[in-house]
Formats: sequence, C-alpha cells, structure tokens
Amino acid sequence: MEIKPFYVMEILERAKELERKGRKIIHFEVGEPDLPVPRKVKEEAIKALNRMEMKYTESAGILPLREKIAEYYYETYNVGISPEQVIVTPGSSPALLAVLKVVGEKFSEIAYTDPGYPCYKNMINFLKIKGRRVVTSAKDGFEIPISEMESPAMIINSPANPTGGILSRETIEKLSEKCFLISDEIYHGLTYGEKATSVLEVTKECCVVGGFSKFFLMTGWRVGWVVVPKWMVKEVTAILQNIVISPPTVSQIAALKCFDSDVLEELKENVKIFEKRRNLMLEGVQELGFDVPVEPKGAFYVYADSSRFSDDSYSFVLDILGNTGVALTPGIDFGENGTNKYVRFSYCTDENKIIEGLERLYRYLR
Ligand SMILES: Cc1ncc(COP(=O)(O)O)c(C=O)c1O
Repeated sequence: MEIKPFYVMEILERAKELERKGRKIIHFEVGEPDLPVPRKVKEEAIKALNRMEMKYTESAGILPLREKIAEYYYETYNVGISPEQVIVTPGSSPALLAVLKVVGEKFSEIAYTDPGYPCYKNMINFLKIKGRRVVTSAKDGFEIPISEMESPAMIINSPANPTGGILSRETIEKLSEKCFLISDEIYHGLTYGEKATSVLEVTKECCVVGGFSKFFLMTGWRVGWVVVPKWMVKEVTAILQNIVISPPTVSQIAALKCFDSDVLEELKENVKIFEKRRNLMLEGVQELGFDVPVEPKGAFYVYADSSRFSDDSYSFVLDILGNTGVALTPGIDFGENGTNKYVRFSYCTDENKIIEGLERLYRYLR
C-alpha cells in the first residue's frame, strides 16, 4: 500500500533547516493559525492540571463538552442534535478516519474532489475503500459537477482547503438528495462576508466533522468532533475506543471555555484580522501575476495558478524557497487535476510578514 507524502511538511522541514542556518523565512505554507489561544482557555487548562490527575475520559469525550457542542449547533445553525450524536476526538483527523470507515463499508464508494484536502484520498486508500475522484475545474469556479455525480457517498469540504471556496446551500441540497454526505466543516467560523451552510441544516442523515484547530486556534491541543446519525454512534465510538482510547483530558476541559460568550466574541474579532490578511494576500498574489480563479471566501488560503512561471509546482516552490526565503505549498499536494500548475498561499502570519513576503516574491519574479 502506498501512502503519499504530505509535500507541505517536506517544504516546512526544508524551511526549518534554512532557519537553523540563520535565514529569515516567511511562512506562507502552513495551515495553522498564528494567533494566541484565548487567555481563559489557557487558564482553565492550568487550573485543571493543578487540581486533577489526568486520567482517560469516556472515548466519546466528556459529556459537558458534547452538550456544549450540541448547543453550539443550535445557536449557530438553528439545528437540534442530541449530545449523544456528538463524538469528541483528538483533532478532527481520527474522526474523519472513523466515519470514512463506517460510511465506506455501508456504501460501495466515496467520492472526493480533486483538488481537495489530500488526507481524504490517503485515508480512503489506507482503509482500502473504493474512492472516486471528482474533478472540479477552475473555469467553473471549482464547483462540484452535480449532474455527473454517481457515487452513493461523498466527502465535501466547505470552506475548502485549498481554494477557500464555500458551497452554496443549493449545492448542498442537491448533493444531499443524490448521496450520503460526510461534511468536513473544520473551517466553519472563518468566513468573510458569507456564512457557510452546515450540511446539518439540510439533512440529519449525514456526518459533520468539526473541531477546535482553526476558528478556535487550538491546533496542538488535539480536540475535534464529529456529529453522526444515531445509527452510527456505536460503531464510530467502537473504532475510536480501539484507536485513540480517549481525546486528551486537559484539552477537553480547556475547550469547554471556548463557548463562553466573551471568548466567542474574541474569536469572532479575529476573523476580521484574517479578512484583512486575505484582502492583502489576494491583491498581492494577483499583482505578482498569478491568476486566482476563485475569490477565497473562507479558511486562510489563496489557491493561485502559477502556470505563468512554471508547470512543475514542487520545483517551483523549492526554487522560490531557495531564492527568496518564502515558503509556499505546491499544488501537487491537493491532487492530480492540473495541480502542478498551482501553488497555495496561506495567510496564517501577520500583515508585516505578508507584505515582506510579497515584496521578496515581487523582486524575484517580476
Ligand atoms: C480540510 C481539513 N480537514 C481536516 C484537517 C485536520 O485538522 P485537525 O486534525 O487539526 O482537526 C485539516 C488541517 O489542516 C484540514 O485542512
């Protein structure tokens, strides 16, 4: 079995090596928010560490957190789910793996988009499930070609990595009429001017994956979740019992604080910072001569056509890193559909660094 490398991690390692040698690197490659975790969340973690032994928790996560997540869906999307349907996981990644396994066994194949988040295809291959690549094109704004969809199940991602695109409610409705959806909603909350629809607003017969890594800024704390239909609860929990035992105890206790109204307000203020960065990066990337076929409306990425400069994204990114000290992600990380002619710019860094990175690229490319 072949499991593909994550090229962005190779670029990150190369960039770190250059940093060790004293080069100042501008990181446009990583998809990890740089802003600090809210103070209340950190203080809660310290309090928890001081007062208790860190034992395993229930495999599906502590009940107060499952209740808070269920309430959050009601407050954010006006959808009623029971805490029993919420399963907390160490980051959203094991949740994806567990639901892909159960859905893949019930339905004969799972479709995924190309370009798209690479782990879907890699997990599908790892689980030996039949996957079907759905090619989306820049000229159609990377929209899913619904009329050609034949798979009984599909994994979708909105806002999307790498394009930053948001699926309309109409698209979600049409897709959910055709197939069972696993919806990766990890970038929900990070949208600029347009709210993303949760698949749960359209149907309860779906899996929705979410987590604390992006909008909530808690990547390394490893807490995510999945909302599943009642018939899946037992099976998904059993898989997670075997592979992760339980999500990290201290992180779950700290994550509870994310739902305090003042913390949520602080997190919503951060979205304005990301929006300003998005505007700066988008404008700069276009000025450099890259074509951006879809204006990113969410997440923290700009997916840009680099064919004017190169049709080998990995060599191009290595060349840029060596000559300018700016790290980008090669398009080939996201599939095989013309991805060699694309690069992804992440704006998880402050405005001054974005300006400096763009200037370095301007000097080299223009
Ligand atoms: C689309 C998408 N889904 C899932 C994840 C995994 O996030 P985590 O396991 O930290 O929750 C990422 C991380 O970058 C992502 O981009």
